[in-house]
Amino acid sequence: MGKLLYSLAILFFSSVALGFTPNCNIPEQGSTLQVIHVNSPCSPFRSKTQLSWEDSVLQMQSEDRERLIYLSSLVAGRSVAPVASGRQVTQNPTYILRVKIGTPPQILLMAMDTSSDAAWVPCSGCAGCATTAFYTAKSTSFKNLSCGAVQCKQVPNPSCEGTTCGFNLTYGSSSIAAGLVQDTIRLAADPVPGYTFGCIRKATGNSIPAQGLLGLGRGPLSLLSQTQYLYKSTFSYCLPSYKSPNFSGSLRLGPNSQPFRLKYTQLLENPRRSSLYYVNLVGIKVGRGLVKIPPTAFAHDPNTGSGTVIDSGTVFTRLVEPAYIAVRDAFRRRMGKAIVSSLGGFDTCYTVPITVPTITFMFSGLNMTLPQDNFLIRSAVGTTSCLAMAAAPVNVNSVLNVIANFQQQNHRILIDVPNSKLGVARETCT
Ligand SMILES: *[C@@H]1O[C@H](CO)[C@@H](O)[C@H](O)[C@H]1NC(C)=O
Ligand SMILES: *[C@@H]1O[C@H](CO)[C@@H](O)[C@H](O)[C@H]1NC(C)=O
Ligand SMILES: *[C@@H]1O[C@H](CO)[C@@H](O)[C@H](O)[C@H]1NC(C)=O
Ligand SMILES: *[C@@H]1O[C@H](CO)[C@@H](O)[C@H](O)[C@H]1NC(C)=O
Repeated sequence: MGKLLYSLAILFFSSVALGFTPNCNIPEQGSTLQVIHVNSPCSPFRSKTQLSWEDSVLQMQSEDRERLIYLSSLVAGRSVAPVASGRQVTQNPTYILRVKIGTPPQILLMAMDTSSDAAWVPCSGCAGCATTAFYTAKSTSFKNLSCGAVQCKQVPNPSCEGTTCGFNLTYGSSSIAAGLVQDTIRLAADPVPGYTFGCIRKATGNSIPAQGLLGLGRGPLSLLSQTQYLYKSTFSYCLPSYKSPNFSGSLRLGPNSQPFRLKYTQLLENPRRSSLYYVNLVGIKVGRGLVKIPPTAFAHDPNTGSGTVIDSGTVFTRLVEPAYIAVRDAFRRRMGKAIVSSLGGFDTCYTVPITVPTITFMFSGLNMTLPQDNFLIRSAVGTTSCLAMAAAPVNVNSVLNVIANFQQQNHRILIDVPNSKLGVARETCT
């Protein structure tokens, strides 16, 4: 068995070395889109350097340190930057979707973000955008929205440029000035005519996803709100692991053809942060042991916005400080006398094999038991493993527990807004 896996690994790496690329233009059918990891062979945002297997292994070893420091720096603040696998450091989000905009359709690889409502793309003539993603003049169905349009009242900081509606927003460390526009978008095989989104005219900073962003939050102007008639505010996704050789998962829109063997917990709302998907986290187990955590660490408070959210744009799970310290201490106790080290924002790293087999997030009605791949980040050469979680920053108005994308990889997550349910099942996303 070990030998077989070894041969498969060699086969995989040699395929990469020989320039093997999977079929990246698999026609998307129905309402299911491919979710592509930013480092996928199908992603234009990955490193372009093709190395031999030996060279890539050597390089991964030498840059392992750099990579892990970079990874840990993501812990410092909410970040849309990716888990850069191996050698590259990019300013791209972790997961991307192929969306077609305009008539005739222009293909854009947009960032997927479940905690943003809006969609926006860098448009032709944009000042400060790295690339033009969308050529408005080439689309016959493109139109600007006027200042009087109802949608113009739903955007942050609306403004009027002549007669057309514009708005400003900040994303990560960037700020964006965009026009509010409409055009047909196509999601897999579904056309959505007259979709309202932001057309970026001016940008500063470098945390803007190169070809735009598609928000899957549930606030006004979100995809969910605009396609209520089509998708009934229901979708599911499976995020592929950054280590997966196939590097692609799926986003399934609408209630049809959703898996039914899921376990559910209640989806909560919080008026303070209306676009986020809140859940009721009630406890955490390390192995089979329940960790003693003060219930206040999990309290859902509509007045402050505190509680627990599930998010696709954050990489590593963050727990409020008392909860994180309790979990970390329980983990360390399980590791006995093994020497613990830290790496940037990760404070629980080991160079010996990890003896904690699982970590379980206990939500009301649902225990989500994670295997090691969902809570350990391992250096490429496998010598260092860190608990891939950290404490939430304390100097913010109201602290949040964030269940992040590393912890969701290879799980199907179903969001069912009308029934206020969130479903979870293990699934290997290929
Ligand atoms: C949309 O608005 C922009 C900026 O105001 C303008 O440059 C462009 O010509 C307009 N396009 C259409 C089709 O009206
Ligand atoms: C939006 O940003 C643009 C360009 O940076 C700026 O000129 C404008 O004043 C801003 N508008 C608002 C309403 O903040
Ligand atoms: C990759 O995907 C293909 C087709 O989707 C599948 O047949 C294959 O088993 C997958 N390989 C791995 C290693 O998951
Ligand atoms: C989750 O695990 C706890 C502790 O092991 C158990 O008491 C509880 O019944 C489980 N909940 C569900 C919904 O399975």
